Amino acid sequence: MATKEKSVWFCTNCGNEYSKWLGQCPACKEWNTLVEKTVATGKAPKAAAAASRSGGHAPQPLREVGSAQDRRILLGNAEVDRLLGGGLVEGSLVLLGGEPGIGKSTLSLQLPLGAPGLKTLYVSGEESARQVKMRADRLGGDASNCFIYSETCIERILAEAQQMNPDLVVVDSVQTMYSENVDSSAGSVTQVKEVTSLLLHFAKSTGIPVLLIGHITKDGTIAGPKILEHIVDVVLQFEGDDKGSYRLLRSIKNRFGSTSELAVFEMTGAGLREVTNPSEMLMPMHEEGLSGTAVAAMLDGLRPFLFEVQALVSTAAYGTAQRSATGFDVRRLNMLLAVLEKRAGFKLNMKDVFLNMAGGLRVADPACDLAVVCAVLSSNFDFPIPSDVCFAGEVGLSGEIRPVSQPSRRVQEAARLGFRKIYLSKYTSLDKEATGGIQVVKVADIPALVRAVFKG
Ligand code: TYD
Ligand code: MG
Repeated sequence: MATKEKSVWFCTNCGNEYSKWLGQCPACKEWNTLVEKTVATGKAPKAAAAASRSGGHAPQPLREVGSAQDRRILLGNAEVDRLLGGGLVEGSLVLLGGEPGIGKSTLSLQLPLGAPGLKTLYVSGEESARQVKMRADRLGGDASNCFIYSETCIERILAEAQQMNPDLVVVDSVQTMYSENVDSSAGSVTQVKEVTSLLLHFAKSTGIPVLLIGHITKDGTIAGPKILEHIVDVVLQFEGDDKGSYRLLRSIKNRFGSTSELAVFEMTGAGLREVTNPSEMLMPMHEEGLSGTAVAAMLDGLRPFLFEVQALVSTAAYGTAQRSATGFDVRRLNMLLAVLEKRAGFKLNMKDVFLNMAGGLRVADPACDLAVVCAVLSSNFDFPIPSDVCFAGEVGLSGEIRPVSQPSRRVQEAARLGFRKIYLSKYTSLDKEATGGIQVVKVADIPALVRAVFKG
C-alpha cells in the first residue's frame, strides 16, 4: 500500500494532538496554539501486522523473556553513578534539567573529562568550541577522548554521531537544537519534542547513551510543559539557589533505578565537587545561642541527612500576617501554624512567619514538621535551641507527634555527626542498640514537646 499523508494539528504549548484545527486547545486551554503537521500513514499498521506474524513483536510469555541486566557504563563520578542506579544504561536517554547558571554544562563536561576511557561527542549549541575548551581547562581532567562539536542542526549531529560511534553523546542544550523536519524556531515546544524524539531513536537504535541538557523555567517545568519527561528514560534535575555554592541533583524519573535519590555537589573554582557527606555540608555556620533555628534529621531517598530549618516570627506590620516558605510547602506551614494555634494556644495569627530550608533544599519529608514547629516557636519565644539537638517527627492535625519512617537510620546519622539529643514521636519503635549513644527523647504531642524543649 502506498504511503498516505494526513494532517494532524497539535498544540505547541502542551503537545496534544487533534484531528482538526481548534481555536483553543481543549487540554491546556491556550488559544491559537494549534499548528498543522502532515504525517505519513498507511504503511505502519501493515508493517506492524507483518512483523507480528513473523514473530518479531509477537506477545511472548513473561517467564520466557530474558532477564539479563541492562549493560551499564560507569561514569566514574560516584554520585552521578549512584543517582543513575549504578551507572549509565546503554542506549538510554538522560535529561539533565535545571535553571540557567546552575551547573548543567559544567557537570556534563566534567563527566567525560573524568572518564577518559569513554569516547565522548560533546555537542554544544550554546558555546563555541573555544569556550568549551576554556571551561575544560578550568575543570582539568583528561580531554584526549572528548570531541567538541558546535552545531545546532540535529540531523547533522546525528549523522556525525553515527559516523563517529562514540560511547557517549552529550547535547547542550535541547532548547538550542532544531530539526529540519519541523517548521518552527529552535526552543519551541514542537522543536524540543522533535529533537528529543530523534535523540531517543538514535540512542535506542545504536545503544549509545545520550545526555541531554534542558533548561527549566522558574516554575520548575522542563521546556515549559513537561512533555520531555515522558519521552526520556531518566530525568536528573538540579536544585539549589545559584547564589549559594551547593547544588543538589535529584533523580525525579528513572526507568532503570529508584527515584528520589539525591546527590550533593559544591561549585568550586574547578567545577562541581562531590559532597559525599551531605549532612556536614548542608549545616551552615550554626552559632550557639541564635533563636529561630532547629535541625531536622531527614531522609532523602535512602540517605539520612541533617540540615537546618530557619524561621523568623515577627509582629505583622500591616494587620494581615504574611506567611512565606522557601523550600517547604507553604500550605503545610499554614497547617502547622494552625495546629500550634488550636492545639497549643499560641497566638500566631497576627504574626508574620518566614521559613527557610538551609542550602536551597526543597523538602518533602514529613519528618521535618517537628523541626519546623520548633524553629517557629524558638523564634517566637526568642529561645535558642542548643545546636547539638535535632528533631524527626510528623505533626498531625490534632497536635499529636507521629512516628517517621526509618527512625534508626536518622538516629544513627545524628549520633555519627555528634548530636547529643534527638526528639522523636512517643510512638516510635527503636532498638536500644540502634541509638549509637545519642539521647532519645520521645514526645507525644505539641504541649509535651514545648515542655521538653522550651522549659528550663
Ligand atoms: P554552567 O555549567 O554554565 O551552568 P548551566 O549550563 O546550568 O547554565 O555554570 C554555572 C556557573 O558556575 C557559572 O556561573 C560559572 C560557574 N562556574 C564555577 O564557579 N566554577 C567552574 O569551574 C565552572 C566551570 C563554572
Ligand atoms: Mg550551559
